[in-house]
Amino acid sequence: MNVLGIETSCDETAAAVVADGREIRSNVVSSQVALHARFGGVVPEIASRAHLELVNGVVGDALAIAGIDFSEVDAVAATCGPGLAGALLVGVSAAKAIALACGVPYVAVNHLEAHLQAAWLQDPDVALPLVVLLVSGGHTLLVEVRGDADYTVLGQTVDDAAGEAYDKVARLLDLGYPGGPVIDRLAEVGNARAVRFPRPMRHDGLDFSFSGLKTAVLHQVRRDPSMPVADLAASFQAAVVDVLVAKLAAAADRCGARTLVIGGGVAANSGLRAAVAELATETGRRALVPPRDLCTDNAAMIAATGWRRLGRDGPSPLDAGVAPSLALPTG
Ligand code: KG4
Ligand code: ZN
Repeated sequence: MNVLGIETSCDETAAAVVADGREIRSNVVSSQVALHARFGGVVPEIASRAHLELVNGVVGDALAIAGIDFSEVDAVAATCGPGLAGALLVGVSAAKAIALACGVPYVAVNHLEAHLQAAWLQDPDVALPLVVLLVSGGHTLLVEVRGDADYTVLGQTVDDAAGEAYDKVARLLDLGYPGGPVIDRLAEVGNARAVRFPRPMRHDGLDFSFSGLKTAVLHQVRRDPSMPVADLAASFQAAVVDVLVAKLAAAADRCGARTLVIGGGVAANSGLRAAVAELATETGRRALVPPRDLCTDNAAMIAATGWRRLGRDGPSPLDAGVAPSLALPTG
């Protein structure tokens, strides 16, 4: 069964074809980063307009790469939330139009649930329970997964998301947008021990806080403007990774997790990927660290989740709307 997935919740216009919820036949992402970079963040109106211009071409590319045409699409899935309302509307409207024209089901997909699915895309027989650390520009969540659609949120951020902290620190260091990739690259050559930044809430439950860390970087820059930016980046990254991995370890202990999974844009971070692999080895667990293009926003995860939701819950009505503040469905 070929599911066409469409993702337009933020600044990536993406389409993918996934067969039977696991075989990725195409996975096309058109990033709008260049359009938003000079504003230092995503501008919602620019995002919606760009999605509108890009979506048909991206869908066409996804079908062409998969080697199929519309007559071989068996269902269409799209992200209905959470995300920017105007941006979501473009993908959802495109998906409904294709579903209606092709006479196939439309499935509305929760973007957060889709990030969790990266684990099954890699290994359909992954050992449960698993704990997912979902870290993106908009979310920082620790989720216990006991089965399909059996999710428990163990912790989340009380202020900034992890990716947001990267983006804000990059902005104050004048490194441009998005901040994660450039700080990650600088961190590789910098001295992670140059400054001992705070580890907010490290020993304090499973929730996260990142706004104090960002302020600590600001104070450090004011105190010593001559410190090499690579050292600041490496020290900042060390603090973020330290907190994320400590919480992941605590969450895994709490629910007896057999598998550790990371997802979301910050899961592309080389320091975090290495630290999670090490944690798994140390604690006798398996780490599932998806390839970077399945961590950042993509439509393969939307198609795979759509396939599962269709099998369990059936199609979504064509008058279903978008839900900008949608939460992860929990039992
Ligand atoms: O999941 P994503 O592509 O979009 C959503 O926010 O849903 O995540 C984007 C975030 C941005 O904040 C970006 O700075 C961060 O992920 N990011 C990274 C890296 N690559 C992207 N953060 C740290 N290290 C990276 N290598
Ligand atoms: Zn995302």
